[in-house]
Amino acid sequence: MTEATHKPRLLTGDTPTGRLHLGHYTGTLENRLSLQEQYECYFILANKHAFTTLLDKPETIRRHTLEVALDWLAVGIDPEKSSMFIQSEVHEIDELTFYFSMLLPFNRVMRNPTLKSEIINKGLGDAYPFGFPLYAVGQTADILAFRPDIVPVGKDQLPHIEMTREVAHRFNHLYESDSETSIFPDVQPMLGRVDRLVGLNGPAEDGTLQKMSKSLNNAILLSDSAEEVRQKVMSMYTDPTRLRATDPGHIENNPLWALHDAFNKDKQWVEEFKEKYRTGNVGDVQVKKQLVSVINDFLEPIRERRVQYENNEASVIEILKAGTEKARIVAQETIEMVKDRIGQKYW
Ligand code: TRP
Repeated sequence: MTEATHKPRLLTGDTPTGRLHLGHYTGTLENRLSLQEQYECYFILANKHAFTTLLDKPETIRRHTLEVALDWLAVGIDPEKSSMFIQSEVHEIDELTFYFSMLLPFNRVMRNPTLKSEIINKGLGDAYPFGFPLYAVGQTADILAFRPDIVPVGKDQLPHIEMTREVAHRFNHLYESDSETSIFPDVQPMLGRVDRLVGLNGPAEDGTLQKMSKSLNNAILLSDSAEEVRQKVMSMYTDPTRLRATDPGHIENNPLWALHDAFNKDKQWVEEFKEKYRTGNVGDVQVKKQLVSVINDFLEPIRERRVQYENNEASVIEILKAGTEKARIVAQETIEMVKDRIGQKYW
């Protein structure tokens, strides 16, 4: 047995709906990177889930899928250690989805808070396709196909993990006798250091700051150039009550400071300058310039790694192909166990 087989297992991933940003980093990518050594890692590119909203743009889904893979490689996911794979190529996930859909009452799926808020936020009304709620069931299969110990995700994904745990319990309960060991573990979610990074623009109508999101156009992308970062930060929202550098400033509800808190490693500087800001002893421009340099320092190694793969789609595809093959081995083991437990092995 190789050492890798003794490691606990981790599964997580992203729906490819666009390039990743700093919020993805603090929410989950950072955890993925730090756990890469200790865990046997599987990272899913949930390309089929992108069809819930981009049904008419399959080429865009393909492009986003490769862009997210590139973002993963750029932040430092190491394909030698971790398996990055394409959801649609692991058919065992689809098989599981069907059986799992039987274990979840329809109303239970529709009560999933993430699904409910997506229906509202995306303005889907009651015209969403059947596949829309089905994706949430599918996500339980994405996860359980790998029987992982942990699933590092952003806060918005917790309802999906909760549903996954319910499916696992129901399956274990229905199809196992006491003497048998459970196929499915009690999967644990793991939240990021900053569970909701704020975006660069001002508060929403309800007065709260919006989270960083590409669709709200308030994000710094992991693929932004140094100049793009500079422009975005220099024009970002700060404290609207402060007109001059000598006016007292607010730290709370101010994305300028939320981003310093999340990315500036020099905590002493942050504390010192927060005090100066509060008392009108430093201008926004200086604090912003410091943030530009903090974020660009953070992104620089990511940019360097990106160039190795950029403009070389074939190398990214090779990595995904190899990762998908490894991932399928585990998913196939799971489906064999499942078929056995549910009495559907005929030869
Ligand atoms: N729903 C997740 C997102 O929108 C992506 C995803 C699909 C996922 N399957 C998963 C995340 C399994 C964790 C585990 O980003």
